Amino acid sequence: MNVIIINENKKDFLDLLLLADEQEDMIDKYLDRGTLFALYDDDLKSICVVTDEGDGTFEMRSLATYPQFQGKGYARYLINHVCDYYKDKGTVMVVGTGDTPIIVPFYENSGFVLSHRVENYFIEHYNEPMFEHGVQLKDKVFLKRNLRLLLTLLLVISMSVLFISCAQIFGLDTAGDEVEIGIDEHFKADWVFITKSMPWL
Ligand SMILES: CC(C)(COP(=O)(O)OP(=O)(O)OC[C@H]1O[C@@H](n2cnc3c(N)ncnc32)[C@H](O)[C@@H]1OP(=O)(O)O)[C@@H](O)C(=O)NCCC(=O)NCCS
Repeated sequence: MNVIIINENKKDFLDLLLLADEQEDMIDKYLDRGTLFALYDDDLKSICVVTDEGDGTFEMRSLATYPQFQGKGYARYLINHVCDYYKDKGTVMVVGTGDTPIIVPFYENSGFVLSHRVENYFIEHYNEPMFEHGVQLKDKVFLKRNLRLLLTLLLVISMSVLFISCAQIFGLDTAGDEVEIGIDEHFKADWVFITKSMPWL
């Protein structure tokens, strides 16, 4: 598999772009300023566009795989590749999508956690009502993925080692009452993602 960045003639990928975003003038709003990634496995399989939203935030848009090649892991590979590409350039990758029971779990299983929603986005910004698997799209749901996953993992492990060492030094009973630690939701989601990806941990 090979992922390349496309800098010119991005409209050549319009068939895939329209799979993810049905209205061409909405694509035009971000295609020029976005970076287009194309995944090839012999020939073209998937694409996505990433825009720089400032303050270390990048947004992944128009993720799409040709229907006959879906379910083979191409989109997940592309997501991981793109997040790896941006890990030294920013802190968070966000993705905005319709509130459907298929796509939201797909992103959650790819390391994203729910961030926020914009109510009635698809009703107010699109000319025609949009439907996904028979459900009319209304709100736009945003999910985010920490780009510094490895750093977070090292931090969590270091904190755990420090905590256990301190408990042993000061003779605390760590097997007794449950100790609640103030780990934020993002850390928890990262940890779930890490343990899913590396079950031997
Ligand atoms: C969403 C989409 C990009 C996924 O592409 P893909 O290459 O099929 O995704 P992958 O093969 O990497 O799938 C990764 C996981 O998601 C699951 N998955 C992917 N698409 C799914 C679907 N439509 N329904 C249920 N599960 C799905 C896969 O089974 C896989 O799960 P697993 O690893 O546990 O087996 C593809 O369905 C698509 O192009 N859809 C149309 C465009 C679109 O809606 N894009 C999203 C815009 S926000």
